Amino acid sequence: MDSTEHLAHIRHASDLTTLEQVRVSLLGKKGVITEALKALSALDGDVRKAQGQMLNEQKQLLIAELDARRLELEQRAEHERLGRERLDMSLDAAPWRTGRTHPISAVMQEIHDIFALMGFTVRTGPLIEDDDHNFSALNIPDHHPARQMQDTFYIDAASEDTTYVLRTHTSPVQIRTMRSEQPPIRIIAPGSTFRSDSDVTHTPMFHQVEGLVVDRDIHMGHLKGCISDFLRLFFGKDDVQIRFRPSFFPFTEPSAEIDIGCTRNKDGLIIGGNHDWLEVMGCGMVHPHVLRACGLDPQQVQGFAFGMGVERLAMLKYNIPDLRTFFDSDQHWLHHYGF
Ligand code: PHE
Repeated sequence: MDSTEHLAHIRHASDLTTLEQVRVSLLGKKGVITEALKALSALDGDVRKAQGQMLNEQKQLLIAELDARRLELEQRAEHERLGRERLDMSLDAAPWRTGRTHPISAVMQEIHDIFALMGFTVRTGPLIEDDDHNFSALNIPDHHPARQMQDTFYIDAASEDTTYVLRTHTSPVQIRTMRSEQPPIRIIAPGSTFRSDSDVTHTPMFHQVEGLVVDRDIHMGHLKGCISDFLRLFFGKDDVQIRFRPSFFPFTEPSAEIDIGCTRNKDGLIIGGNHDWLEVMGCGMVHPHVLRACGLDPQQVQGFAFGMGVERLAMLKYNIPDLRTFFDSDQHWLHHYGF
């Protein structure tokens, strides 16, 4: 068989399998060319050299031809595959859900919008607070039972002199604001707060919005008017009944807890009426000790402050029965209660 014949076999191989068979028959272990190369050793001198050169050239030619043919066949196979394949463009894409705003974020925004209407601006503070901002400056001295009442998370001591805690309320922002700004002050402080408490009605992390007004001649009437307006706007009802119940906070004097009137029937709880009362926030007149701790003169300026739990307000407004579900990250729940 001469080279022309080998080349013809290669060129006529109609698929990759046949081409491989041709390759093996020529260049495989027992292939024609391989055998011919082995046979060279029996020849002598010049003949061997000439024959060897000829065979090697032939081999290179065949290899090049095999490669070319393989490429050709591969491209043809690819082309045929593409011609065969069909994409069904009419198939609907998998449905995808757009995100929703978590009820806590939504309610924070609603609270913010109402107070913005009343001329309040927002202040924030760190989640890790020192003892002074979270307790002492708020008139909660060392060893005061109020420290235990708040189930504080303590941070491992960074220094001997200062104790750091996860803030147990947003009230430290009052201190920071009064120390860095001059009255008139009219701010709200929204954010997360932490207490080492976990049961059906308590989660270790929750949210508060604190309010603070400091100016000349501020009295409880201002507090009452401000909170009443807020609660009516927040619950979207003109006839929300509001009750101020005397209470105690170390940082306010006098202090009160605010209840709103509600009615319970077979469908649950309805805001309005006064068959029953629900506690919604704490408030009071800023204690003179607190004003002094912030460098203010209680003879010159007075203030009121209030603090509310965001989860509780969200539960009441949107009929969410279980506090813990706020923190479960359950997509179905979020789809149902989100905005
Ligand atoms: N800081 C109080 C708490 O977390 C709430 C509060 C704020 C009460 C401001 C009165 C005035 O319980």
